[in-house]
Amino acid sequence: MTMLLKVDKAVKEFGALRVCNEISFEIQAGEALGILGPNGAGKTTLLNLIAGDLPLTSGRILFNDQDVSGQPANKRCTMGIGRTSQIPRPFTGMTVYENVLLAAQYGRRKSEADSYHVCRDVLALTGLLPLWNTVAGNLRLLDRKRLELARALATQPSLLLLDEIAGGLTDHEVHDLLAILRQIRAQGVTIIWIEHIVHALVSVVDRIIAIDFGTLLIEGTPDEVIHSETFRQVYFGIDTDLEPVT
Ligand SMILES: Nc1ncnc2c1ncn2[C@@H]1O[C@H](COP(=O)(O)OP(=O)(O)O)[C@@H](O)[C@H]1O
Ligand SMILES: [Mg+2]
Repeated sequence: MTMLLKVDKAVKEFGALRVCNEISFEIQAGEALGILGPNGAGKTTLLNLIAGDLPLTSGRILFNDQDVSGQPANKRCTMGIGRTSQIPRPFTGMTVYENVLLAAQYGRRKSEADSYHVCRDVLALTGLLPLWNTVAGNLRLLDRKRLELARALATQPSLLLLDEIAGGLTDHEVHDLLAILRQIRAQGVTIIWIEHIVHALVSVVDRIIAIDFGTLLIEGTPDEVIHSETFRQVYFGIDTDLEPVT
């Protein structure tokens, strides 16, 4: 197996607040890694550090054996790191197609013809083809989530970072989303997925890390982590299938 990403003692501080406390883990190419942890644990911050949307306080991020710690987000995107945001941020006045096209052109630079084919494939995969000409601001939640995913995929990532992509969806909608994620995996895309909906997460990922107070508490197979004492303590009294209050 080839190592795709290595997070090496990642530290992030906001003033006196340490939000990521020397987090280290690796992910192999083709693997899917889940991240669990209560609200405020530092999960989104960690994703921001990997994507380059926030600078590290200390530590390193290696992608394809290259130290990308000093690279800006747009550079990391062209290198193959794609992400979704916890709060979808499409250009609400543009159509679904225009949003995806923009992402395709922002990612790996390519000709318009190539971008068109990428967009078509991505819209088909995410089930958005029938809505290609709908203005993004008029989409319902599931389709906004799909668009968020489509925009990330249009940058043609080898590493896809997902931040609570299933949050707020009905069981049926989560089921549909899982089918899409499995297809993305089957295409060989490596995935890091932050998700509170545990049953959905474990059905897709190979491995899970759990984070609390910015510290990596446990790492293992979904079974090992879910049944660990540590995990039970972190989530004690919390129904992890409920949408958390943010
Ligand atoms: N830009 C910021 N400035 C100051 N504090 C922040 C900033 N972003 C996040 N935080 C704080 O860092 C902690 C972790 O936040 P976050 O990474 O969003 O957690 P999670 O995604 O696990 O819910 C929280 O206490 C949050 O208030
Ligand atoms: Mg978050």
